[in-house]
Amino acid sequence: MRIAMAASEAAPFSKTGGLGDVMQALPEALSQIPGNTVYVFLPYYSRVKYDARFECEFVTSFAINLVWRKSHVGLFRLKSRRKKLQIYFIDNEQYFCRDGAYGYGDDGERFAYFSKAVLSCMNYLDYRPDILQCNDWQTALIPTLLKSEFRSCFPDTKCVFTIHNIEYQGWADMNFNADVLGLDGSWMETLRYGEAINFMKSAIMSADAVSTVSETYARELQYPYFSHGMSEVLKLRADDFYGITNGIDTTVFDPASSPHLPAHYTAATMVEGKAKNKAALQKELGLDVDPNVPLYAIVSRLAGHKGVDLLQYICDSFMAKDAQLAIIGTGEARYEHGLTALAKKYPGKMVVRLAFDPALADRVYAGADAYLMPSKSEPCGLSQLIAMHYGTIPVVHATGGLNDTVKAYDAGTGEGCGFRFERYNGEDFLDAVTASMELYFDDRAAWDKLAARDMALDVSWNAPAQKYMEMFWKVIG
Ligand code: GLC
Repeated sequence: MRIAMAASEAAPFSKTGGLGDVMQALPEALSQIPGNTVYVFLPYYSRVKYDARFECEFVTSFAINLVWRKSHVGLFRLKSRRKKLQIYFIDNEQYFCRDGAYGYGDDGERFAYFSKAVLSCMNYLDYRPDILQCNDWQTALIPTLLKSEFRSCFPDTKCVFTIHNIEYQGWADMNFNADVLGLDGSWMETLRYGEAINFMKSAIMSADAVSTVSETYARELQYPYFSHGMSEVLKLRADDFYGITNGIDTTVFDPASSPHLPAHYTAATMVEGKAKNKAALQKELGLDVDPNVPLYAIVSRLAGHKGVDLLQYICDSFMAKDAQLAIIGTGEARYEHGLTALAKKYPGKMVVRLAFDPALADRVYAGADAYLMPSKSEPCGLSQLIAMHYGTIPVVHATGGLNDTVKAYDAGTGEGCGFRFERYNGEDFLDAVTASMELYFDDRAAWDKLAARDMALDVSWNAPAQKYMEMFWKVIG
């Protein structure tokens, strides 16, 4: 199958969150399946363009029109890749040579440009994929562009739109089509949501199939509580709506080989290996170096839906117990300040690092005993998968992908892989944390057994990639 994938980020080039991890691993996994060729299209951000690690070759350049604008498109290809997996970068300094990836006033225009440029480049390359897979709002205009302006270039290409997080939809004012996109007026109904243009809504309407990143999230999105206004639109596509739970790249996230870890380990050497990582981590973070106090960790964007408010709510009760807490992340100022203030009260026991640092994150996954994920909603969540793969026991709110991937530990049978709470409130969260602590202190052998079993779970992309293929084949018909 010929596959093209478009996204606004992919590790190791650029990553602000889970989308970047998925876009590193999923194309790779799909390209490993016999008969598949995968082309990935990404923006050529300055941090990629001027990073010597990423050697690219120039392919072509031309101009595209965004109504009255004539915009430069440079096409670059990453050197020395396997033929089956080609990474292309779209270069436009005006749009992509900035400090960050998103959060600018003209983001709508930037990613409308990107969407059009991706299709124009595929056309230039004469690459006519069977499936074009797009991700989140930044590439959400592609399905509509494919069906309209670009239909004649790609008469047989089917389009799949994947929702990684429905909270970010890509809104623009009603002028956007006339000013930037320039599609004929008959497309306004597809683009319009209320009195505005909504990129994601248009993708849900135009794509041949829509998917999201876990089965539970796919069900949850039928309800207004989770869908941020999209439940009615999604219901229209119920027959073509898929939930496929993400995996992780187990070659990137591997406690037996990660270059970031002070000590490597496998399931067989987990107890000693984790003890070494824990001592080093406690030292690095300025926590009391103590092997017998459970170290809980969070590595997360500090955003509302990640459940930071619940964490703040239980923090004093939590810290009254014999436990340590490490929080790594950046995000909303109210959480950065709130958590930092809390940590000041508990020197040696609680630490907050306001950083987005994948290497430190790796050391945290390896050195912590347990991993907290009280997310209010979580489309899939990758951290709980990484944590389990590192033998770090998750404590989660049973929502979205957390519900699908963290089965409740049953002390009687010893089955399950972590601790969970069903209703989103602080008391239930604290109960789940307390239950995990009881296991840690009362039966360390059972705790270690649970951690070793978590390490043995298959959280790779092998099974999910097959499910993507099944979906693609169905869409192709
Ligand atoms: C988003 C979601 C997260 C998901 C990731 C990759 O970041 O919030 O739950 O795991 O995308 O699909």
